[in-house]
Amino acid sequence: MATHDGADGTGGTDAEALRESTAGDRPPGPDGVPVIGNTLQFLRDPLTFYARCAAYEDDVVTYRVATSDGVMLKHPADIEQVLVTDDADYRRASIIRNALGQIADGGLFLMEGEAWSAHRTALQPSFYRDRVETYADMMARFADERAAEWAERDSEAGPLPVSEEMRTLTLEILAKTLLDVDIRGRESAIRDAAAVISDRFDAGSVSALVPLWVPTPANRRCRRAVAQFDDAIADIVAERRASDEEFDDLLSILLSIDPDDGTGESGDGGLSERQIRDHLFTFLFAGHETTALTLSYAVMLLANDQQRQARLHEELDSVLGDGGDGSAADAERPGATDLFELDYLDRVVDEALRLYPPAYTVFREPTRDVDLGGYRIPEGSTISMPQWVVHRDDRWYDDPDAFRPERWTDEFRESLPEYAYFPFGGGPRHCIGMRFALMEAKLVLATLASRFAFDPVTEPPLDLSMQITLQPDEPIEVDLRER
Ligand code: HEM
Repeated sequence: MATHDGADGTGGTDAEALRESTAGDRPPGPDGVPVIGNTLQFLRDPLTFYARCAAYEDDVVTYRVATSDGVMLKHPADIEQVLVTDDADYRRASIIRNALGQIADGGLFLMEGEAWSAHRTALQPSFYRDRVETYADMMARFADERAAEWAERDSEAGPLPVSEEMRTLTLEILAKTLLDVDIRGRESAIRDAAAVISDRFDAGSVSALVPLWVPTPANRRCRRAVAQFDDAIADIVAERRASDEEFDDLLSILLSIDPDDGTGESGDGGLSERQIRDHLFTFLFAGHETTALTLSYAVMLLANDQQRQARLHEELDSVLGDGGDGSAADAERPGATDLFELDYLDRVVDEALRLYPPAYTVFREPTRDVDLGGYRIPEGSTISMPQWVVHRDDRWYDDPDAFRPERWTDEFRESLPEYAYFPFGGGPRHCIGMRFALMEAKLVLATLASRFAFDPVTEPPLDLSMQITLQPDEPIEVDLRER
């Protein structure tokens, strides 16, 4: 199920005036059929349904999908209240627990309370700034190797399948940096399984509403994909356990977490196999697909805007050099410190994440009745805070559907309300991999764009699906030109 990108309907006049004028007992929202509410409208086309909700002047909109009372928040102040200020009053929403809980119940993403806090603290060192900077060389080297493969491509091979290439690359980088596993050549087991699982949870498909144990064709495919993913994880863990070497990475932390550490479980010196698997599943899934999408959307946007692409090339050539002979083939491989000078690159990535946020919404569920935006919201409601809507709201962004990296000046960043831009969520449960993802996206894009120019094949507006992440319906493709 899909809709066109750039769908209108990000409502927008003076935010405060709207908020004052509409406070009432129940927030407005699209009419639905008794019992099933808005389920059919939603299934038919979730992004259009979101746009419809966004078109209401009110910043709080209600709807009903499946068995859940939905509340959409569009105002950054309300989003900040949920994610940051009153975070203790909310938990992971049931629709997420019920869906993802079927495949990785014990991963960091779904854990709650003290156990979550203990595990997050234990895993955090892998994502400290200093540690992430040590991954920079590996990130650029893997991108460089991929660029070398691209350069060898047969000129008859047709357009480059960017989304698939980026999924492979980000998975290789993730496995090598965080798990010290070289999975080049065998990444397809995880990559392809991730695609099947993601598709099974497409918000616009009935399959997402059917429990995984029901033997539908989509469920059978999904269960096979999960088994394939599990085999790959089991191999990674077995290889590590069989090794005599000392490691200092995310996997070594996972294998040494003491479950007694704040979790209340009785310790036997390590996590259960199931929990190690759930954590690894979560990291492998959350950690490669999102960054691959960011890179694919960024490349597609640049391919369709030659002027802005030229500006990026200019910056890359001046910071990384052009090999001295006018060709970009010998340009210096970018490193972490170069990123300080690559200001336009920074803006391109931020703008791609604004227009196509891979995590297109964040869900929460209040554990008691709460007040939000002038309304009383009952305990157990599904609160949706859609980056997809807020990032395209013309109250915060001029010409919100346009790709304009240069909008991200320091003044603009300062003037933007907190949570008008939140591709990585916010508060205590913000993305643990944010620094990793941003560094990776920038180093990979810098490496590839300094060697190649991208010409458009896939053009916006894109048809998009709300799967676990925001996916293009058709693979993103570009033509390559060596610079
Ligand atoms: C552009 C890339 C990425 C985007 C847009 C993204 C987005 C997000 C968002 C919005 C959340 C918060 C969800 C919520 O509050 O409900 C989140 C959480 C999370 N992300 Fe990312 N992410 C990205 C990359 C990564 C990477 C590279 C990793 C790991 C290597 C990762 C691992 C996680 C984990 C484990 C959580 C759960 C954290 C917790 O609950 O404590 N993500 N991500």
